[in-house]
Amino acid sequence: MLKIASIGGDGTGPEVVREGLKVLEAIAGEEDFKYQVTHFDFGGERFLKTGEVLPDEAVADLKRFHAIYLGAVGHPDVPPGILEKGLLLRLRFELDQYINLRPVKLYEGVDCPLKDKGPKDIDFVIVRENTEDLYVGAGGFAHKHTPHEVATQIMISTHHGVERCVRYAFELTRKRNRRKLLTLVAKINVLTYAHDLWWRVFQKVAKEFPDVKTDYNHVDACCMWMVKNPEFYDVIVTTNMFGDIITDLGAMIQGGMGIAAGGNINPKGVSMFEPIGGSAPKYTGKNVINPLAAIGALAMLLRQCGQERAGDRVEEAIVRTVPRLKSLSAGKMGYSTSEVGDLVVKAL
Ligand code: IPM
Ligand code: MN
Repeated sequence: MLKIASIGGDGTGPEVVREGLKVLEAIAGEEDFKYQVTHFDFGGERFLKTGEVLPDEAVADLKRFHAIYLGAVGHPDVPPGILEKGLLLRLRFELDQYINLRPVKLYEGVDCPLKDKGPKDIDFVIVRENTEDLYVGAGGFAHKHTPHEVATQIMISTHHGVERCVRYAFELTRKRNRRKLLTLVAKINVLTYAHDLWWRVFQKVAKEFPDVKTDYNHVDACCMWMVKNPEFYDVIVTTNMFGDIITDLGAMIQGGMGIAAGGNINPKGVSMFEPIGGSAPKYTGKNVINPLAAIGALAMLLRQCGQERAGDRVEEAIVRTVPRLKSLSAGKMGYSTSEVGDLVVKAL
């Protein structure tokens, strides 16, 4: 019995999760496996009513599930940082989901903003470290609100944290078995402490993977190559902050936030899957947002939970659905959110 915790969250999150769960019901019937979904109402609305973001018991409770299916986090009436840190980052940290896995894949029939690039050019995976770096929240203020105010935000990399992430990326590159090329993306010419550690660990772990070729890009150059020559990439491994930024760029070259899915992965624990776009407040409740990213996240969830064939079939159904939409953008699909969910179910 596959036990899933679903957190619709804010904005359009609940709408897209609903479609994902519709697809889950269909694929579970097809593939004949049993599952159970438990809903949690964490998010901005609950915070505004109760002042509580995520009760301590909830974190313990979530550890009993096989996976978490998350819609979106972010509410226009809640100051920035509260939900992001209190819900999303807290779960990533406390469940030790140290990998943020974000495939960048352009499906056939999807408009790509890059001239002369097609599906054969855009098919790589970004492995973003997910528990360290500027996201740790180390730092603070001194002399706040005075002209002498000092603010620090400290970039933290640990040998343990870097090594497990880099090793995961090497293993994934081997398993993907494409070009067997792993590119480290960092900024070793400026961040000569934190990224020197990344560089050294990368070289060390590489010795265990003689079959995997390695490369290195500074992050600014990576942004250039992702636009100019995305076909250079097979797997990228990078830090939390840089990974946050380049995965939004990745999402755009694969057709936008409507299609980009990701997984926060603890290979030995509870992982959490989400569409990588935000809560899209202006589309909330209108039944116009694209659920394909959330359905793609469901495919990743199924694969991570040992239902590989079910996951593959859901992805194939997305591939068959994509050409039927006029656009992947909210409000321009030619179908409503729930109709797109129905199309995927039919394509199964
Ligand atoms: C993401 C998001 C989050 C992040 C925010 C909402 C905290 O942008 O998942 O990429 O920065 O990691
Ligand atoms: Mn982001």
